[in-house]
Amino acid sequence: MQLAIINGPNLNLLGKREPGIYGNASFESFFTELKNHFPDIQFHYFQSNIEGELVNALQKFGFDCDGIILNPAAYTHTSVAIGDAIASIKAPVIEVHISNVHAREDFRKISHVSAKAVGSIIGLGLKGYELAVQYFKDAPTQTRS
Ligand code: DQA
Repeated sequence: MQLAIINGPNLNLLGKREPGIYGNASFESFFTELKNHFPDIQFHYFQSNIEGELVNALQKFGFDCDGIILNPAAYTHTSVAIGDAIASIKAPVIEVHISNVHAREDFRKISHVSAKAVGSIIGLGLKGYELAVQYFKDAPTQTRS
């Protein structure tokens, strides 16, 4: 099974960035543990601070991977293009947010992604990525209609 994890802007700074909200772990150290935890899964990882590159990554992985775990970060709240890209691909997408966006500023309550995703995991820290992997592992044949 092949899964892609796609992270949006500023998530390259996890561990340094607002640790009170996003924690002290870098994504790289978490990702090493994740790969060890799921040795039978082939992971692809992409992070970008640029909206169009996230659209390109969704198109690139969206027809070959069995699932995509996407944290579009701030673009969640603004990007019609990312929402359209999710609707355009075959692979099911799970939206993940590290922080509980519903407990923060009002503008974070809007998502252009949630309605296009299979589901969303919000506010559970980096554990959300692991839970999304487990979901795809348990439901490997699910695809978008
Ligand atoms: C985030 C929440 C977004 O509102 C924010 O812009 C981020 C990270 C999260 O994972 O909690 O950059 O997606």
